[in-house]
Amino acid sequence: MDSIRVIGGSRLEGTIPISGAKNAALPLMIASLLSAETLTLENVPQLADVVQLGRILGNHGVDLTIAGKRSGHRAVDGQTFRLTAHEIVDTLAPYEMVSRMRASFWVLGPLVARMGEAKVSLPGGCAIGTRPVDLHLEALRALGAEIELEGGYVLAKAPKGLQGGRITFPKVSVGATHNALMASALAKGESVIENAAREPEVGDVAECLVKMGAQIDGIGTSTLTIQGADELKGAVHTVLPDRIETGTYAMAVAATGGDVLLDNARADLLESPLDILRQAGVEITVTNSGIRVARNGAGLNPVNVETQPFPGFPTDLQAQLMALMSMAKGTSTIRETIFENRFMHVQELARLGAEIDLDGDLASVAGVEKLHGAQVMATDLRASVSLVIAGLAAEGETIINRVYHIDRGFERIEEKLGRCGARIERLSS
Ligand code: EPU
Repeated sequence: MDSIRVIGGSRLEGTIPISGAKNAALPLMIASLLSAETLTLENVPQLADVVQLGRILGNHGVDLTIAGKRSGHRAVDGQTFRLTAHEIVDTLAPYEMVSRMRASFWVLGPLVARMGEAKVSLPGGCAIGTRPVDLHLEALRALGAEIELEGGYVLAKAPKGLQGGRITFPKVSVGATHNALMASALAKGESVIENAAREPEVGDVAECLVKMGAQIDGIGTSTLTIQGADELKGAVHTVLPDRIETGTYAMAVAATGGDVLLDNARADLLESPLDILRQAGVEITVTNSGIRVARNGAGLNPVNVETQPFPGFPTDLQAQLMALMSMAKGTSTIRETIFENRFMHVQELARLGAEIDLDGDLASVAGVEKLHGAQVMATDLRASVSLVIAGLAAEGETIINRVYHIDRGFERIEEKLGRCGARIERLSS
């Protein structure tokens, strides 16, 4: 297993290209199951999760080709994927595959919509406990699917196809909204999704489905009205920039000091985090090509933040913000309201000298003068990258073990940071 070695203390100066969003690319790839024609996706990031999903979709019969580079292609442009599900050869998504990536559960809606049946493993870990799928199943039931649970699998059937219906989510779920939206696009008649997730990645998938022939009103709002199509066609769609990658690098610059242009970033996708960074005393300038982040000399002000569905502060930036606030001039509070156990980074940050007190869903972070390098362990994607941020600002050497988590969601992280002056390298085991 690879690790990452960081020597802290260097300011970051330069340009970091922002890649296409992982959490849009994954459901967009899954949307290819809805059509027999080719879906071309541009700006797909090079990530382990994308490769893994390509394999999973291949199992269902999706042919994936990756276009070569073209002249004028820039580093920020990402890959071009052509996905063709001419024939779905298998409606089974086995445990070995779904347990490795939760988002692959989202094939359920598209498969039952197109084929009238699907058998998809429940996602790994404590799926019914801490990250349940009840909202996904209720949504498909509202569209007329019969659902049974058997031996750790969800069996969904709609032999005569799905029917439009009304789905009212009691709680905002990104994944359940993706599943409901993709299934509705091939259901007969009108569907209405109420309390839909408004995350930009949901909007990106909706825009792509419109290009494929679905009619969708209310994109970007919490009520989506979908007129299903008998068949969906091919389309060409560009994946939107990754707002979590953007926010992560913004916090890295805030932590180390310096001046960096986040090229291709879109400020409208992360107004809440940018606002929090401004409150902390970080200089944020929106330019034609992206977002400029600068901090010179002055210390960081503490902030009080609560994670919320979009447009609130994203849970996927909570760990990174905590790393940053570990060095603020005072005590910050960070409340995690989306996932009940998303504080695994706390004990690792403590190894670097952070002073964080946990009380249920509330973390109180007392800023310290300096963090000190140490050996730490990456526990999940966003927690891992928070350790990189802390390591970049800490005194001395930090070794982050188990970095495969980072490769799932951050493209070429050591190269992107290294080009801006960070002392960071990958150690292969
Ligand atoms: N929930 C239910 N029932 C369900 C589904 C969800 O109770 O049927 C609960 C969850 O337990 C959680 C809350 O609803 O408490 C929100 O979960 P959501 O369904 O929105 O999360 P997700 O779709 O599984 C996506 C992202 C996550 C991100 C969350 C929240 C992708 C591939 N994943 O997960 O991203 O944290 O939305 O914004 O888009 C990451 O990229 O590191 C990551 C974890």
